[in-house]
Amino acid sequence: MEEELLRGAVGPLLAWFCTHRRDLPWRHDRTPYTALVAELMLQQTRVEAVRERYVQFLRAFPTAEALAAASEEEVLKLWEGLGYYSRARNLHRAAKVIAQNGFPSTFEGVRALPGVGDYTAGAVCSIALGLPEPAVDGNVLRILSRLYADASNVDEGATKAKYAALLRAVYPPETSDFCEALMELGALVCVPNGAPTCEECPWRTLCRAHLAGREEAFPVRSEKRARRIVNATVYVLQCGGKYALEKRPARGLLAGLWQFPFFEGDAPGFGQLLAEKRAKHVFTHVEWHMTGKRVDVAEEIAPYTWVTAQQLREKYALPSAFRPFLEWVK
Ligand code: ADE
Repeated sequence: MEEELLRGAVGPLLAWFCTHRRDLPWRHDRTPYTALVAELMLQQTRVEAVRERYVQFLRAFPTAEALAAASEEEVLKLWEGLGYYSRARNLHRAAKVIAQNGFPSTFEGVRALPGVGDYTAGAVCSIALGLPEPAVDGNVLRILSRLYADASNVDEGATKAKYAALLRAVYPPETSDFCEALMELGALVCVPNGAPTCEECPWRTLCRAHLAGREEAFPVRSEKRARRIVNATVYVLQCGGKYALEKRPARGLLAGLWQFPFFEGDAPGFGQLLAEKRAKHVFTHVEWHMTGKRVDVAEEIAPYTWVTAQQLREKYALPSAFRPFLEWVK
């Protein structure tokens, strides 16, 4: 594909970004470490869900050294509800590497940090290190496939590689603004769900999809695979002022996080049922269809960990899937 179209789109995009950039917490007092935290938090997660959590996380761990010195339980607690918890574990490991060796100064060095893929490495390098390294995420694929009216499947690695090469060829000296402007256009104008607001777009006279009136024909994607349905029973067991928790297995979905006693398929009965409610939680590849059961029990049954409501709030990272049942924890 010709670079000229994209080269001509850089100036209008940067000018638009100057006046339309959102005031987001990670855009203040940026260091390579804070940029890494932000980009990891923002993977697969909406800006609005991250805003406040980013501030809290950096208040607790303002530097890589502070994060490196924390326990895994503390880090997971601050990640509670954000999902994709391996990001938190990887960030913790990355902080230990950075505290030891300093922040890497090259793309290869950043890419070698735990949990950092091509996208995050590109974003951190562009945003915080001034390096012209493309960061191609879903937003960038959407705006570029529309700009070029390109019917290549964006779920294929080759398409991503093609756009990365194209971006690399036109990267301006304002690496940080360029990287974030691409994301911003995808977030504010050329939006992921629903119709883009093309009349506000700095590329409205350049965009081939728009000029053809076909913006919603792009990006072209693979068909999504149906999610697997898991039926489960979740017990909120109460004994005196304490509640039963268990740790999830070390591998797989929500690995190593805490949960209420959880049974796929058949479940035992623990005693007299006080309340019952249904709740659904949608993960990337699985849906949990849960029946929550509130039960008082006479003793602190093994092998569970029994904690007070306050301990649960302050110390134990409970994934959002279980939030619907927290109304029973007082
Ligand atoms: N999504 C991913 N990185 C982002 C950033 N730096 N600003 C806004 N949205 C983003």
